[in-house]
Amino acid sequence: MAQPVTPYNDTEEKKTQVARMFDNIAPRYDFLNHLFSLGIDHLWRRKAVMTLARHFAQKNSNAPQRVLDVATGTGDFAVSAAKRLPAAQIVGYDLSEGMLEVGRVKMTKLGLSNRVQMQQGDAEHMPFESASFDAITVAFGIRNFQDLRAGLGEMHRVLTPGGLGLILEFSKPTAFPIKQVFHLYFRFIMPTIGRWVSKDAAAYTYLPESVAAFPEGQAMHAIMSGVGFDSCRIHRLTGGIASLYEVRKADAQKADARKASPAE
Ligand SMILES: C[S@@+](CC[C@H](N)C(=O)[O-])C[C@H]1O[C@@H](n2cnc3c(N)ncnc32)[C@H](O)[C@@H]1O
Repeated sequence: MAQPVTPYNDTEEKKTQVARMFDNIAPRYDFLNHLFSLGIDHLWRRKAVMTLARHFAQKNSNAPQRVLDVATGTGDFAVSAAKRLPAAQIVGYDLSEGMLEVGRVKMTKLGLSNRVQMQQGDAEHMPFESASFDAITVAFGIRNFQDLRAGLGEMHRVLTPGGLGLILEFSKPTAFPIKQVFHLYFRFIMPTIGRWVSKDAAAYTYLPESVAAFPEGQAMHAIMSGVGFDSCRIHRLTGGIASLYEVRKADAQKADARKASPAE
C-alpha cells in the first residue's frame, strides 16, 4: 500500500502530525490562507454557502437547521454559513485546539458564539448521535484525514436522511495554461513564502504533496458512493483548482426501497 502523505515523518500517526502542524500555523493561518488563494477562496466558500442555503430553502420548513462544519479550522466557513442562514445552529468541529482557539476569538468578536459552537475532536470518530445534522460541510479538510473512508462514513452516519453533504477540496487543473501556472505557484512560490511566514518548514510543502496524492472527480465520487452517499454532483471551480462535491444521504423511503431490493 502507498505510504500516506504526512507533514513531518513516517513514524507518527498522520493525525498526530496534522494536529501539531495546524496548532503550529494557527496564529498565521487566516492571513496565509487568504494571501495564497489571492482571495479566490472567498468565492469558492460563497458557492458552497449558496448551495447550502438553496438546500434549506427547498425544504421550505421551520424545522431547526443543524449544520456541522467538519475540519472547521478557524471557522471561516462556519462564519459564512451563520451569516447566510440566520436560523442555523452550527457546530465547528476540528482536531486542532490551536485552530479552534483562533476561531473562538473570531466568533466572540463577530457576536456568533451563541450560534457557532467550536468543538474539538476527530472526524473519524465523532461523538454525535446518528442522524443529528441536516447538512455537513468540509472545506479543505478532508485531504488531511488519516482514513478518508472512516471520515466520510462518520459524516454519512451523523447526517439526517435527505441531508446534504458539501465537500470543498483542492483538485488538479488540467488545461493549459492554468495547469502550468498553478504548478509553478503551488510547488515553488507558495512553499517558499509559507516556510518563511509560518515558521513551519513542512506545512506548505505538505500542502501541494497532499493535493497531488488525493483522489478527485470520479474517483472521489466512487469513494463517496461506497460509504453510502447518493446523487453526487461535482462542480469544478476556477479551472479545476478546487472542486465542490455535493452529495446527499438517501431519504428514508429510498433507503428502505434499497434494502428491499439490494440487487438494484
Ligand atoms: C486547511 S484547514 C481548513 C480549515 C477550514 N475549513 C478552512 O476552510 O479554512 C484543515 C483543517 O482540517 C483539520 N483536520 C484534519 N484532520 C482532521 C480530523 N481527522 N478531524 C477533524 N479535523 C481534522 C485540521 O486540524 C485543520 O484545521
